[in-house]
Amino acid sequence: MNLLVTGAAGFIGSAYARMLLAPGAAESAGVSRITVLDKLTYAGSLDNLDLTHPRLTFVRGDICDADLVDRLTARARQVVHFAAESHVDRSIAAAGEFVRTNVTGTQTLLDAALRHGVERFVHVSTDEVYGSVEHGSSTEEDPLDPNSPYAASKAASDLVALSYHRTHGLDVRITRCCNNYGPGQFPEKVIPLFLTSLFDGGDVPLYGDGLNRRDWLHVEDHCRAVELVRTEGTPGGVYNISGGTELSNRELTERLLAACGADWSRVRHVPDRKGHDRRYSIDDTKAREELGYRPRHDFASGLAATVAWYRENRAWWEPLKRGLTA
Ligand SMILES: NC(=O)c1ccc[n+]([C@@H]2O[C@H](COP(=O)([O-])OP(=O)(O)OC[C@H]3O[C@@H](n4cnc5c(N)ncnc54)[C@H](O)[C@@H]3O)[C@@H](O)[C@H]2O)c1
Repeated sequence: MNLLVTGAAGFIGSAYARMLLAPGAAESAGVSRITVLDKLTYAGSLDNLDLTHPRLTFVRGDICDADLVDRLTARARQVVHFAAESHVDRSIAAAGEFVRTNVTGTQTLLDAALRHGVERFVHVSTDEVYGSVEHGSSTEEDPLDPNSPYAASKAASDLVALSYHRTHGLDVRITRCCNNYGPGQFPEKVIPLFLTSLFDGGDVPLYGDGLNRRDWLHVEDHCRAVELVRTEGTPGGVYNISGGTELSNRELTERLLAACGADWSRVRHVPDRKGHDRRYSIDDTKAREELGYRPRHDFASGLAATVAWYRENRAWWEPLKRGLTA
């Protein structure tokens, strides 16, 4: 079976492709070939993929390019859709590309999937679509109430995807996952941003009072959950994917400082992000009960391995970081 995976030159999509291309994975997953469609924006890198792998085909292109998407979808039995503009701060500075890629791009893929009778379409959404949750945890039935332009564009694409199930009967499945961490995350996101600055003797910017809370999940656990949804989920099913490690940004900073042998003198307090959601929290009982989902990485050892990866892979992140400050 040929699986079309969008955005797999990025952080999570490339981890998903690696998982499916690992020795022995093809038989269990029923995936004989993966076709990656990725535009290679600033966030995508071919270094994240093994382009020599015999079961991988890479196509550089835009998910908004209807002709290209049509040709690739015609040859795919299933689609897993990761491609997106993904950084909240960039969406606050300029939202146009977020609406174009995240909403129009998703709709372009859905139209092609419908036209060619694709048998499954997994749309990778986020816990940010529920908005800030002061108490308790969001279930899949809760209304979407996004705040940032990023979250709003993801909520829009999530609902457009669901509408193709409800209106046309397309087998759409949705994951709404919490914050991911792990190797290969672009160094604008908080964990690699802080680590790479601390390694080089720099300081780290902490937003506002630092008490905003996030739930953290290792990227490999997210990929396993996406795969469970693809193989065991139900058509039209929405699945929250939680990590179970909720930390304030101060607590996260404390751990990153400790991992780098640094102290609070390296922290620069900066004005809060506009519209900064105070807390995300999702209830993933449905994924646990229906799919047997359980995260395998505990946060302490997953973070230690991530710190080690960034220490050992300067050649990967240094050029990306230079590009951010250029
Ligand atoms: N990172 C997280 O913590 C997190 C949590 C939950 C959900 N998600 C979702 O998971 C998905 C992947 O996130 P990520 O962190 O790997 O993002 P990322 O920014 O690292 O990667 C995005 C990839 O999409 C590609 N892309 C962007 N625009 C494109 C376009 N128009 N056409 C084709 N390709 C395009 C980029 O080149 C890049 O390779 C996103 O949909 C995101 O919303 C992320």
